[in-house]
Amino acid sequence: MCGIVGYVGEQSALDVVMGGLARLEYRGYDSAGVAIRNDSGDLTVVRRAGKLGNLRAALEETDPAELSGTLGIGHTRWATHGAPNDRNAHPHVDCTGAVAVVHNGTLENFTELREGLEHRGHTLSSDTDTEAVAHLIEERYDGDLADAVRSVCRELDGSFVLVVTHRDEPDVVVGARRNLPLVIGLGEGENFLASDVTAFIAHTREARVVDQDQVVVLRRDGVTVTDLDGDPVRGEQFHVDWDTAAAEKAGYEYFMLKEIDEQPEAVRETIGGRIDSHGRLRLDELAMSDEDVQGLTQVIIVGCGSAYHSGLVGKHAIERWARLPVHVEIASEFRYRDPVLDPHTLVVAISQSGETADTLEAVRHARRQRAWVLAVSNTVGSSIARESDATFYTRGGPEIAVASTKAVMTQLVAMYLVGLHLAQVRGYRDGDEVRSHFRDLSHTPDLVTEVLGRMDPVRKLAREIAGQERVLFLGRHVGYPMALEGALKLKELAYVSAEGFPAGEIKHGPIALIEKGTCVVVLAPRHALTSKLVTNVQEIRARGARTIVIATDGDESVTPHADDLIRIPDTKSLLSPLLTIVPMQILAAEFAMARGLDIDQPRNLAKSVTVE
Ligand code: G6P
Repeated sequence: MCGIVGYVGEQSALDVVMGGLARLEYRGYDSAGVAIRNDSGDLTVVRRAGKLGNLRAALEETDPAELSGTLGIGHTRWATHGAPNDRNAHPHVDCTGAVAVVHNGTLENFTELREGLEHRGHTLSSDTDTEAVAHLIEERYDGDLADAVRSVCRELDGSFVLVVTHRDEPDVVVGARRNLPLVIGLGEGENFLASDVTAFIAHTREARVVDQDQVVVLRRDGVTVTDLDGDPVRGEQFHVDWDTAAAEKAGYEYFMLKEIDEQPEAVRETIGGRIDSHGRLRLDELAMSDEDVQGLTQVIIVGCGSAYHSGLVGKHAIERWARLPVHVEIASEFRYRDPVLDPHTLVVAISQSGETADTLEAVRHARRQRAWVLAVSNTVGSSIARESDATFYTRGGPEIAVASTKAVMTQLVAMYLVGLHLAQVRGYRDGDEVRSHFRDLSHTPDLVTEVLGRMDPVRKLAREIAGQERVLFLGRHVGYPMALEGALKLKELAYVSAEGFPAGEIKHGPIALIEKGTCVVVLAPRHALTSKLVTNVQEIRARGARTIVIATDGDESVTPHADDLIRIPDTKSLLSPLLTIVPMQILAAEFAMARGLDIDQPRNLAKSVTVE
């Protein structure tokens, strides 16, 4: 939540910072702002409530001379303290206008800090916690911005990424972090700070992560990183191999539509190179010895939102193939109920961004209990990846749209691969069987392409039902987590009441929601339970529901009970989520677009939720 950019170099800082913010807007879009140190030596701050477009319009009305400079910082906000208005938009400045600060996070001792500042005669003009930092730096500044920032950070409780500039230090941007992500982009004659690498990959692919309680001093010709006492610290540089085009819309109206279309490739990439010369599946990322895998007594999967749904599918795959008990937990609930963990427990933490605070806390809790933690993340160098024992990087490329699509798809693939690997090492499936399941999995990218090619009727259907205020999703077995995912997509994009249920459960309550014309999406890929599902479909149809059924090619058992039929190709039922998920993504996107909504940036949401 909240996207931050800092730049010093030779290019127009405004262009670089605005370009970076455009890539980070998925992190929050309640307001946006920039501070540019202009060529006359002043700091120009422009900030506006609403999306980046409002800031762009305000910048166009600003005298270009005031914005011309090669050092700047910027922010796109997901509001925590204070309403999302102009006054609370970042950057915030001190009493003299010499210090400008952008902040991601929440300061827990903010009331105390603010009272102290007011008592000492400062005038705070916003409701934010961030503004206190600008005034504290004003008090501590004695000719060295980095020193002032270090001193202030020692006093802050809570989580923060701060990026700060001072009018009197024309070549310096200072960054600091605790608990939230900050990455350095290392260029030639220019350097960058950002919440994630997408903000600067158009300029440099060389990056370095800033660690806990570290302060970065960014200059045109170099970067130094220290701890809060000012002692230099070393860090690892890494290369980002994401394609820049992947962070662009490439002619699509929305990132989400592009990301849906990128799914076959994302699956292919995530599966690639997994079979060794002896025909064995390789999952070296797990970094556990065979003996430790054989000694496992349970698996616990944690995640939030769509990642949690992937985990629910993972439970089916791991239990079925590796015969290990699996519990799946919503990460925000996990550590508060004192789960039973020990060194024979494998905890799998799924997070596209690798920064979700709830999942990160779950990882920390699990590691304190000495469980082995495998992160499944799409983001190299993310906090969850760094704090886990091992990381499986999904290879989905950057996902910009807030509603997750290709990342979920790759998380599902990760779950299948973990299941097969555990089965292989624990000896519950022989090599031939593992290879046969792997072959089925390897065919899915082509099947996903095929599903994508069949989506025109689904778009038409979505437009037809876009006036509905309630849509239900039903599934059984692996169809149930996908029903949850379908409902989440529709709810987050179209703001309608959408709920997913296990089909067998509706008669215990949810069936009361059905009235004439209620749309119910039924996930009915071919499965041993299809006949039971048919009974459930009949029950709701008898009560007036409009049934939209997703069924396997050639399976006629459900067709008589479907008002609308969406066909998917045949695949093993355990792998069917990789196919059933696609029509639900398209349905939700098209339904929301028909209502005139922005599907990349749904209201009130942020892609990376870094508060608990
Ligand atoms: C937010 C997003 C969801 C996402 C969830 C978990 O709530 O809106 O789309 O599934 O966070 O994100 P993560 O990055 O941890 O996978």
